[in-house]
Amino acid sequence: MHELKRVLVVGAGTMGSQIALQTALSGRYEVTLADSVEGQLERARAQNTRLLDRSVEKGRLTKEAASKALGSIKDSNDLAGAAAHADLVIEAVVEDFDVKQAVFKTLGRHAGKDAILASNSSTIAISRLADFTGRPELCCNMHFFHPVTVMQLCEVVRGPKTAEATVEAAMEFVRSIDRTPVLLQKEIWGFIVNRILFAASEEALRLLEGGYASAEDIDTAVQKGLNWPMGPFHLLDFSGLDIFYGAMKDRHRQGEGADAPELLRKLVEEGHLGRKTGKGFFDYPK
Ligand SMILES: NC(=O)c1ccc[n+]([C@@H]2O[C@H](COP(=O)([O-])OP(=O)(O)OC[C@H]3O[C@@H](n4cnc5c(N)ncnc54)[C@H](O)[C@@H]3O)[C@@H](O)[C@H]2O)c1
Repeated sequence: MHELKRVLVVGAGTMGSQIALQTALSGRYEVTLADSVEGQLERARAQNTRLLDRSVEKGRLTKEAASKALGSIKDSNDLAGAAAHADLVIEAVVEDFDVKQAVFKTLGRHAGKDAILASNSSTIAISRLADFTGRPELCCNMHFFHPVTVMQLCEVVRGPKTAEATVEAAMEFVRSIDRTPVLLQKEIWGFIVNRILFAASEEALRLLEGGYASAEDIDTAVQKGLNWPMGPFHLLDFSGLDIFYGAMKDRHRQGEGADAPELLRKLVEEGHLGRKTGKGFFDYPK
């Protein structure tokens, strides 16, 4: 069994900053957060400070525990140097294959020979990156959900060459930071959650496009009939229509599922991306 003590998170954006924070909150690891963009580590620290302050205000965390967690995250602009001191690396850089490929090449060259290398990608399966590291048996996906400090789940995905010991260590790591792991035994586009979410969202779009029901009523039906906290259209508006549209296009390019529906394409092209632009399937007045 791998003994994991030092964790490096690469990419201090939306996901990476919170993966580092959740890891630090466990109090079990030395955590380093790396980013290549000037000022990003400072922004991540400010965001994590706000998150922790809110938890303290709500009485979920003591002031001491919050400042201990924040203080235990080391920042780094030097990926190669930080990789050399990590037992587990979780990559959470932008969803761009070329960028991820370059990061995995660097990790393969500089991380200790037993270090586990995981990707938080939502759509790039580990088999596409693992061979660049020269140690595909030590690579897997660890797909956390946003916001990491709230969402319990992490999908661990076994690539065709991932060793059993790597899977076990990844699952155990997720448990140790108080998240719930599930294992995808074989790679498949979208893993588990996004496949099920896509199936439901596509069906909702078909019903709307076919004029069978309004977006409002479809959401009410799903909320009240299936007990989902949010209907599919409110959820699409919340996560951003551009994100869903891009993911559907990507899935189609990879030979899976239908192309994005016309209704969605039109909304995205008109710049109606959901909550963040004030309009999607519903209106969000400022
Ligand atoms: N946002 C979500 O809801 C979500 C959910 C699950 C998984 N993911 C996945 O997590 C990953 C990150 O997504 P995000 O939303 O946090 O993106 P983001 O754009 O918020 O953050 C990406 C970070 O990576 C940094 N970066 C870019 N190139 C780098 C490099 N070469 N070395 C180091 N840092 C680099 C950027 O400066 C940025 O801070 C993606 O693969 C995405 O698919 C995102």
